[in-house]
This record gives sequence, structure tokens and C-alpha cells, in this order.
Amino acid sequence: MKRLGVLISGKGSNLRAVLEKKPRGVEVACVISNVPGVLGLEVARTHGVETHVIRHQDSPSREAFDATIVKLLEASRVDFVLLAGFMRLLTPVFLNAFSRRVINVHPSLLPAFPGAHAVRDALLYGVKVTGATVHFVDEGTDTGPIILQRAVPIEDGDDEAALHARVQKIEHEIVPLAVELWASGRLALDGRRVRAHG
Ligand code: GAR
Repeated sequence: MKRLGVLISGKGSNLRAVLEKKPRGVEVACVISNVPGVLGLEVARTHGVETHVIRHQDSPSREAFDATIVKLLEASRVDFVLLAGFMRLLTPVFLNAFSRRVINVHPSLLPAFPGAHAVRDALLYGVKVTGATVHFVDEGTDTGPIILQRAVPIEDGDDEAALHARVQKIEHEIVPLAVELWASGRLALDGRRVRAHG
């Protein structure tokens, strides 16, 4: 069993998808939120998962914030980390501690529309197809090697909420799949390309 730490800032529907779909070889060891009182913490508790709140405002720097989280993850003997709607950028303090072991989900077909408002940005641009991406995290904003990606067509009547809901349906399929692939050791990196074998 590989122990997964999940970082959240919000409602935790991707966390819920992982907990409910129970990807093989994966145990959710702990959930950490940088925002108190979010629904995702309740989702974790309902499933009996250990939770922590580390407010980023309480740390003197980004590095200190990351170091606090790394300590908690190490104390929970976490093997790898999922950013599931965690709306903070990570520093090398975090990424060096969990090198190639941090996965993020993003609501667009990267490299299109990185950043915090991907669904809105896709609608404003007027693209006809967007989607969801699961990728390894590097030091850039949503720039790491792509593990899985699926398209979602944009419909004429879509507003941000309707489109995000359809994108999230896809996220809830590819996030559990990506963590299962990681846990079973089937992901191989070849430059920027991630191959899933077996
Ligand atoms: C997800 O749609 C995720 O892709 C997005 O936040 C949402 C969190 O939902 N992440 C980003 O925009 C990161 N740039 P959830 O809390 O219900 O899992």
C-alpha cells in the first residue's frame, strides 16, 4: 500500500472521488487544508482520515509554510502527494522533499489556461474544447509533465459553473486513475513525456 497525502483548499470533490473509488494500492494517510472550515475537511473526517489545517497566513514565508506541511506529511509516512484543489504554489522546499511525487489536477487542457481561473479563462477565450489534466508538479505554474488528460466540449449555453461541473466529472475519473497508476509503479518519465505501462 502506498500512503497518499492530499492537500486541499476547498470542497474536496476530487478527494471524495479518491476515497470513494478506492484506487488499488492507495491509502489516504492524511488531508491538509490551508483554509479552515472547508467542506473537504468534512469529507476526510467522514471517511476516518486524519486532517490538519495549516493556514498559510500563519507562516512567515512560503518556505516556512511548505516546511510545516512537509513535516506533517513525513510524520504521516506519506509516499506521494495529491494537490486536489490546493490553491497555493509550492516552493523547492516542498518539491525537493517529494521530488516527482507530487501530482496536481487542473481544470483545462494544459498548457492552455494555467492558473487559478482556468474554466473562466477558457470560456472568455471562446475555445470549443477544454478539459482536465493530471500532471506532475514542478516549480512552474501548471507546467509539469502530463500524466492524463481528457477533453470536454464547450456548449453554447455554458456558464462557468455548468462547464466546471462537467470538467469535474472528468477529474473524478482521471484523478483516482492517476494515483493508482503512480502507486503501482506504472508511470515512467521520458523527458516531459509520461508513459503508463502494463
Ligand atoms: C478542481 O476543479 C481543480 O481542478 C481546481 O480546483 C478544483 C477543486 O475542486 N484546481 C485548480 O484550479 C488549480 N489551479 P475540489 O475541491 O472539488 O476537488
